[in-house]
Amino acid sequence: MNALTVNTRLVALLGNPLGHSISAQMHNRVYQEMGMDYCYLPFEVAEEDLAVVFAGMKKINFVGCNVTIPHKRAIVDLLDEIDPLAAVIGAVNTVCLTDGRSRGFNTDGAGFLRSLREEAGIVPAGKRFLVFGCGGAARAIAITLANEKAERIILCNRTYQKAVALAEEINQKIAPCASAIKMEQEGQQDHAADADVLINTTSVGMSSCHRALPCPEACIMAHHTVVDIVYNPYTTLFLQKAREKGATVVHGLGMLIYQGAAAFRLFTGREPLVEVMQREAFQLLR
Ligand code: ATR
Repeated sequence: MNALTVNTRLVALLGNPLGHSISAQMHNRVYQEMGMDYCYLPFEVAEEDLAVVFAGMKKINFVGCNVTIPHKRAIVDLLDEIDPLAAVIGAVNTVCLTDGRSRGFNTDGAGFLRSLREEAGIVPAGKRFLVFGCGGAARAIAITLANEKAERIILCNRTYQKAVALAEEINQKIAPCASAIKMEQEGQQDHAADADVLINTTSVGMSSCHRALPCPEACIMAHHTVVDIVYNPYTTLFLQKAREKGATVVHGLGMLIYQGAAAFRLFTGREPLVEVMQREAFQLLR
């Protein structure tokens, strides 16, 4: 690590718990390799302490923070300004602090878009998406896709009502492109056949339940691009089946790295060495 001084620009990660996070290592490695006097520090902050911690950061040499579970929504109320896309998403994962003022952004959607473009050569305009899950990550992804003029977004969630509510919100606030289906709905396979891209945003497939799929196997087809935002394991069962069927596969690690790269750009005004972030992430998750 670089020698720290009072001039070192500090970036925080606010979340709880943070034991699984690799953001600090990714950012600090790039600062080091690019010779930048920055330091990224993770802080486990209880929900009731978020406001006081954030207020304190504004008083000292923090230039920003990343915000993760469970604070992505709560931080919105503490900001001076919010980026319009983050405002529609209703969640912020990156905050820039300039002259004592805070401005919030959401880089999850941008990270997702870049991984789709770099790993599969896909841009959303005119494409049809089937999204499994309807939590915070799905919200950022689906709203970003609608904003990028996706032709159709079908939301499929265990709790059907959440999918209905998000589809309605997208149709009202962005464009009339979204609809909801039930997980076990007859015809799910037809919806899948009609889609260009399948996206898993649920926790199904994570190391704790790695032998499960977010949809019936028959829904995965050769013409699909299949994206899993789960990045541990690197190749989930969903991606493994997709590969077996000849589909194009997009790993979740890309979204993690590119949302971090977008945050890095906001904090520093510079383009990070993405390959350094990738190398660090691979080493830590192997
Ligand atoms: P994140 O911020 O990562 O999106 P989240 O907001 O907790 O996390 O959302 C998790 C999503 O995974 C939800 O859509 C959840 O479905 P419910 O809305 O029904 O809770 C989905 N999910 C979690 N475990 C699941 C499982 N075993 N089967 C299907 N869906 C699951």
